[in-house]
Amino acid sequence: MSNFKTMTCTCVSLLFFFCLIIPSCLAYNVVSFGARGDGRTDSTSAFLRAWSVACHSTSQSNVYVPRGTYLVRTLNLNGPCRRRIDFRIDGILVAPTNYNAIGYSEFWIMFYKVSGLSVYGGTINAKGHGYWSCRKGGKSCPQGARSIQFMWCNNVLLKGLTSLHSQRVHVGIGYSSNVRVENVKITAPSGSPNTDGIHVQNSRGVTILGSIIKTGDDCISIGPGSMNMWVERIGCGPGHGISIGSLGSSYNEAGVANITVTNSVFTKTQNGVRVKSWARPSGGYARNIMFSNLIMRNVGYPILIDQNYCPNNNCPRQNSGVKVSQVTFKNVKGSSSTQEAIKLDCSYTNPCTGIRLQDIKLTHNDRLRRPALTYCRNASGRRGGTVIPRSCF
Ligand SMILES: *[C@@H]1O[C@H](CO)[C@@H](O)[C@H](O)[C@H]1NC(C)=O
Ligand SMILES: *[C@@H]1O[C@H](CO)[C@@H](O)[C@H](O)[C@H]1NC(C)=O
Repeated sequence: MSNFKTMTCTCVSLLFFFCLIIPSCLAYNVVSFGARGDGRTDSTSAFLRAWSVACHSTSQSNVYVPRGTYLVRTLNLNGPCRRRIDFRIDGILVAPTNYNAIGYSEFWIMFYKVSGLSVYGGTINAKGHGYWSCRKGGKSCPQGARSIQFMWCNNVLLKGLTSLHSQRVHVGIGYSSNVRVENVKITAPSGSPNTDGIHVQNSRGVTILGSIIKTGDDCISIGPGSMNMWVERIGCGPGHGISIGSLGSSYNEAGVANITVTNSVFTKTQNGVRVKSWARPSGGYARNIMFSNLIMRNVGYPILIDQNYCPNNNCPRQNSGVKVSQVTFKNVKGSSSTQEAIKLDCSYTNPCTGIRLQDIKLTHNDRLRRPALTYCRNASGRRGGTVIPRSCF
C-alpha cells in the first residue's frame, strides 16, 4: 500500500514537472479518475474528482479529457481554486437522453467562482430535443439547464468549444469579468425554444470573437449589467440576431453600457442587431452602443430598437422606463425580409436620444418590389453619409 502511494506520488510529481515544461501537460486525466469514454458509463463523479484535485493543486494544473464520448450529469465545478487551471477537452461530453437528468438544475456544466481558467476545445451535447418537445407540448417540464455557465469567474478563456442542442442558453456568463470567448461553434435547430447562443449578464470586459452561432433564439443576448463588451466576427443564423435585452423586466435593474458589435454577418435571422426592452417602468438604461460593419442577408428587422416588448400583453398602457441613448448603426449593408428595414420604436415617455445612422444600405427582398422603409417613433438623432432607406433624422 505504502509502495503504491509512493509510486503515485512520484508519478504525480513527474506530471507536475512535465506541466512546467510542456504546455499540453496531462496532469489530471479524467480517465485516470475513472471516467470512461464509451458514451454509456456515468463519468460525473470522475470529472468532479479530477476537478477537485486540480482546484486544490498548489501549482498551475491541467484537467484533461481525452478522445471519447463521456456521459455526464450536472457538473458543478466550484472554486475558488489555488492556481490557474487549463481544462482541455479532446472528447465529447453528452448529457443523459432523459432530459430530467439535467433539466432540474439550472446549469449542466458550471464553473463557479473560478479565477484564471482556460477551457479549450471539445464538444458538449446536451441532447435538448426531448426537452424542447416537452416545452412545445405545453406539458409541465423542468426549468431546463444551460449547457455551460461561468458564474462569478474572472480571467477566463473559452476557446474552440462546440456546443450542440442545449436545453436552454448554450453558453452563459454571469457576474464575471475579463472573459474571452473565441472560435466557438453553437448549433441548435431554428425552432428550438430559448436556446440563445451566448448570454451575458452582470459582467464586465467580455470579448466574443470569431464564432459561428446557429440557434432558435438570440445568437448573443446582452442582459442587464453588461459593460465594456466587444463582439467581433460572428456568423449568426438561423437565430434571432444579436440583442441587447430584454431590459427593464424589473424596476431595479443595472444598465448596459459600452458595447461594440462589429464585422459580423447575419443570415436569415429574425432580427439583425437590436435593443429590446419591456414596456414597463424601470430605472435601467442602454447607452454608448456601437453596431458597425455588418452584413444582413435576408434578415427580418436588420436594425431594430423595440421598447414596446410585451409578449403576453400584460403591460397595458405602460411605457418602458429604460433610457436608450448614444446608439450608433454604422456601415450596415444587405437585405431585409420585412419592409421595415430600420425600425426605431422607442418609449413613449422616455424617447431614445443620440441615435446615429451612418452609411446604411438595406434593400427589401420582396417579390412585389415594395421598397424598404424606416419606421421611427419617439427617437431622435443624426444621420451621416448615405442612409437607405431614408433616415427619419
Ligand atoms: C469600452 O469597452 C472596451 C472593451 O470593449 C474597453 O477597452 C474600453 O476601455 C471601454 N471604455 C470605457 C470608457 O470604459
Ligand atoms: C412619442 O411619440 C408620440 C407619437 O408620435 C407623441 O405624441 C409623444 O409626444 C412622444 N413622446 C414624447 C415624450 O415626446
